[in-house]
Amino acid sequence: MQEVRVITPATVANVVCGFDCLGFALTEPFDEMTLRRTDDPGIRIINRDEFGLPTKPEENVTGVVAAAALKRAGTDFGLEIEITKHIMPGSGIGSSSASAAGAAVAVNRLLGDKFSKLELVDLAMEGEKLASGSRHADNVAPCIFGGFTLVRSTEPLDVVTLEFPPLWATIIHPQIEIKTAEARAILPKDVPLNTAVKQWGNVGSLVAGLAKGDYGLIARSLEDLIVEPVRKSLIPKFDEVKEASLSAGALGGGISGSGPSIFMLSEGAATAEKVKIEMRSVYSRTDIEFNMYVSELASSGARSL
Ligand code: HSE
Repeated sequence: MQEVRVITPATVANVVCGFDCLGFALTEPFDEMTLRRTDDPGIRIINRDEFGLPTKPEENVTGVVAAAALKRAGTDFGLEIEITKHIMPGSGIGSSSASAAGAAVAVNRLLGDKFSKLELVDLAMEGEKLASGSRHADNVAPCIFGGFTLVRSTEPLDVVTLEFPPLWATIIHPQIEIKTAEARAILPKDVPLNTAVKQWGNVGSLVAGLAKGDYGLIARSLEDLIVEPVRKSLIPKFDEVKEASLSAGALGGGISGSGPSIFMLSEGAATAEKVKIEMRSVYSRTDIEFNMYVSELASSGARSL
């Protein structure tokens, strides 16, 4: 194969109670990427969007992951990578993960599917390390596997794909910048035991609620006692958005990844649209620009077309 085109979905990491463990894939927005083998050695990056991301391979998530995949495969053919991002960098819905996962999946296709999905997640984590300084997998795992995933461990990597009922996500992306590395730096290093007990109770019951399709249990489990109380101060109107969304019928939600996006889960598309109206109403009363998305959870992850 000489050329491959892949699309890679946006993802929501943490999913309220599952910091660095839980994540799910969205149907939209998604990024597009085309990789071509070239006769010249080295990696050349062409950005076909307005985001102005670096084109030096060693400074670009896509370039770093592609180089790591070629190295691990013991080959070093030249590559041209043409990227059209639709997921805005810094949005909190897995923009760097989509770049990283897309590069891993695309190079793997050019290599004749040499790597397993788990190995692709491991490769994509190199991109996360460049973007945020940390090899977390809660975005890249759902980006590659699709659906809802739980990262049980990163060393060694162990990803569990979860059963889940039909769910819709409503997302508001306020146009403010929150750097993942900074949003991680403010988190507590220690957690009191009684807080930890409540948190792992919620993670376990969220996974059970998803498997049983028990929307009431999902709603009760969407509670974060550790990360949200600290990070929500970085996001204007967070509590108001949450309150308005719950009144509109959302099951629950919170900060998407490290923010600034806020996501809410709903049982159906109609409720997700009502939640969108409520979220918009809150942010329309600020002078902050924002984007919104309503998307069903995607069962498939990054894939070649
Ligand atoms: N789990 C990560 C965090 C996701 O919350 O810092 C950000 O990419």
